[in-house]
Amino acid sequence: MSTKRQDTLRVAVLASGRGSNLQAIIDAIEAGTVHAKVVAVISNRKEALALERARRHGLSSFFIDPKPYAGRPDSREAYDRELLEVLRRHDVELVLLAGYMKIVTNILVEAFANRMMNIHPSLLPSFPGLDVQKMAIEWGCKLAGCTVHFVTEGVDEGPIVLQAAVPILDEDQPETLAARILEQEHKIYPRAVQLFAEGRLRVERRRVFIEAGKPEGESVISPS
Ligand code: GRF
Repeated sequence: MSTKRQDTLRVAVLASGRGSNLQAIIDAIEAGTVHAKVVAVISNRKEALALERARRHGLSSFFIDPKPYAGRPDSREAYDRELLEVLRRHDVELVLLAGYMKIVTNILVEAFANRMMNIHPSLLPSFPGLDVQKMAIEWGCKLAGCTVHFVTEGVDEGPIVLQAAVPILDEDQPETLAARILEQEHKIYPRAVQLFAEGRLRVERRRVFIEAGKPEGESVISPS
């Protein structure tokens, strides 16, 4: 499938923490390099800095508390049903997971198939999960990096949209490597959103093809 569309893309960002990727996307939108609108920022953590960043930019922000669902056998699904309602209410077209520390269930994955992305600080499929910068160093990898991928049922597993690599230096600690990877995250995530907004991502099974853009200056001609 490809992602052709006409109006300003309506995006929701799900984040649990500091929200620097959210910030990179907001900045790119404000700078005009990404043609999208963040219509909702949603967190499972009340104190997430991401929510504060959203408020500072006048964006709608929502804390959805996981506590009322705790202990239920379907706690994760029930939580995602509430989240899905918020997404639907805001006519969200693309969901971005940005440091969202909660596994999304099929409720969201199916509703947003090929319309939900995640950013992960490794060159997937190497090192899914947590503490991945530390693992890349411990494995003696010479390259690390980050990946934007569509979200499927398996954690950190979906079709890869964009990747960026950074060298691992002899003196690297997990924190120094993470900081260099993060710089690249802030470039490729907005870029992936813009490619989606331009309708240039075509997904075929595991592979995402990036279709050619319009030549500079070409305008859209509507059929008469
Ligand atoms: C990033 O490293 C991202 O790749 C990972 O979680 C971190 C989130 O950082 N999924 P931030 O909240 O966007 O600053």
